[in-house]
Amino acid sequence: MNTNIDTGGIPDAAFLEKLANQYFKANPADELPGQGPIPATVPSSVSGLGVSPSVVQYGNTVDIKDTENDLPKHYSDGGGRIPVSVAGSGASPSVVQHGNNINIKNPQTGFPDQNLKNGDHNAAGAFTDSPANGSKEYFPFEGDKSFLTDLQTVLSSLMTSSSAPQFPELTSKGLDTQDFPAYYFLQDNPFAISGNIAQLPTDSISAVKPGFSTASVLPWGFDANLIKKDFPILQEVVNGKPIVWLDNAATTQKPRQVIERLSFFYEHENSNIHRAAHELAARATDAYEEARKKVQLFLNAASPNEIVFVRGTTEAINLVAKSWGEQYLQPGDEIIVTHLEHHANIVPWQQLAGKKGVKLRVIPVDDDGQVLLDEYARLLNPKTRLVSFTQVSNALGTVTPARKMIEMAHQAGAKVLLDGAQSVSHMRADVQALDADWFVFSGHKVFGPTGIGVLYGKEDLLNQTEPWQGGGNMIRDVTFEHTEFQKAPGRFEAGTGNIADAVGLGAAIDYVTRLGIENIQLYEHYLLQYATGLLNEVPGLKLIGTAKEKTSVLSFVLNGYSNDQVGQALNNEGIAVRTGHHCAQPILRRFGLESTVRPSLAFYNTCTDVDRLVSTLKHLKGKYR
Ligand code: ALA
Repeated sequence: MNTNIDTGGIPDAAFLEKLANQYFKANPADELPGQGPIPATVPSSVSGLGVSPSVVQYGNTVDIKDTENDLPKHYSDGGGRIPVSVAGSGASPSVVQHGNNINIKNPQTGFPDQNLKNGDHNAAGAFTDSPANGSKEYFPFEGDKSFLTDLQTVLSSLMTSSSAPQFPELTSKGLDTQDFPAYYFLQDNPFAISGNIAQLPTDSISAVKPGFSTASVLPWGFDANLIKKDFPILQEVVNGKPIVWLDNAATTQKPRQVIERLSFFYEHENSNIHRAAHELAARATDAYEEARKKVQLFLNAASPNEIVFVRGTTEAINLVAKSWGEQYLQPGDEIIVTHLEHHANIVPWQQLAGKKGVKLRVIPVDDDGQVLLDEYARLLNPKTRLVSFTQVSNALGTVTPARKMIEMAHQAGAKVLLDGAQSVSHMRADVQALDADWFVFSGHKVFGPTGIGVLYGKEDLLNQTEPWQGGGNMIRDVTFEHTEFQKAPGRFEAGTGNIADAVGLGAAIDYVTRLGIENIQLYEHYLLQYATGLLNEVPGLKLIGTAKEKTSVLSFVLNGYSNDQVGQALNNEGIAVRTGHHCAQPILRRFGLESTVRPSLAFYNTCTDVDRLVSTLKHLKGKYR
């Protein structure tokens, strides 16, 4: 790479584009820790780069510009790409089912799949500085020069970096990895990962290790302060104070990359999908199916056919209950859930139980809020047909031993639905490693839009299950006497789905993937420890849910105050938390409560956010009661 760039002024856009392409080519964002070197001081994460969203999102999504109509070239190259024989038929030209004219490994939209490895990209989407057809590369925000300044910062730091992985903060203090807390749900010790320490800002993880004050201990330059800048809503002011968003278990905020992807869809791609022989239908179909592929890779599903787009976790669970449950369960069969479950993983099974004469059984939890595995083992029996449970409790934050529980269920001959609504944004959800039969999650909890979610199901299982809704898109052939259904996923996607938000979910997955879920997991682990330690120092505060295996959620009650009073006091300071029963009344009642105050963390939260929470609570306690 050219290291003689004059970083004192802003070089011309063409030169910066060229450098950016060289950079992204040299430093693919999907390079995960342990799989290759990451340049020193320049982290692999999106916002760790301190880069504007335009660079982050589109620097890696280089496209060929059509000079005539200002659209990406492939949009106007016509001929043969548009699905054929589908106009008005309702039949799907889906790449997944028919592979007609669209190659999933050759995405046709301007947003190639960041999860795909080199060689999987098409020419238009490859990170190349010399496109095959010689066309100019495309930065959608060429008119906005503000990104150039950011890009210059990135490039100059890149050029001054050394490539040798080091952990100077550890060695200078005579520490090694043994000095750090256990990583209870991390598979590998993160300090074994080949990478580099970049300086954390002053807002650091001082509580993790006394004496670490502002020192960096997180590799890969994970910088929540910079990440925050990707989220426009986190710049809001509430009651005169900068907002602190600690209601992430209810919903997460959206990075600009997701917001802009939605706008792009409506400005350039919007059409119904799988149904027409025109250009926009092809663009929209590509974008939608590409999002399915992103979800597949995110979950490590075996095939995109295993990914069904639904409205959210609740709809996904209802789908399984009302299709598989009604088809296969018999009177006397048993379903097991845990005491931790959200109402969405209780009520559909109760409804099914009432209808089919099925029995619902509940795994109890201990006083910390962890499931009792020996009790679970006692509940399993030959009548158990299904175990449906959460990977992370939304009310307590407990991380359940999902892999073990799934193994136990399978040994008993039962199928397993794993509710990932509260886990996908905090830890890797590898459906093949977990061996879940179904896995469900909501887009809005993983930085994507509302109204879109995912049902993963093993392909055979999905294809052996009757659809729960009938209509267009899900059929192969219809007569007045008989209907033949599509295979999965089409058979479960009747009618016009939430196309744009599926595409937005794909962008959210790109974002999370680029930060790196392991990085997120590690950072949040520290932040949770930091917050737990400080909340425990607030007089009269009792944490509800103290399992050793926890993530994100810090439910509590404060002596002398109603939960609503606490929530109101926090809101007065611009701090958003949820108060109430969190749609999980049984588990709160297990602890003798009807509600709690529930701050919940995400990767854009910082120690300063936690400090503001804690100081408001201390102030409240000291001032009044
Ligand atoms: N299920 C969401 C929560 O826990 C709404 O708050």
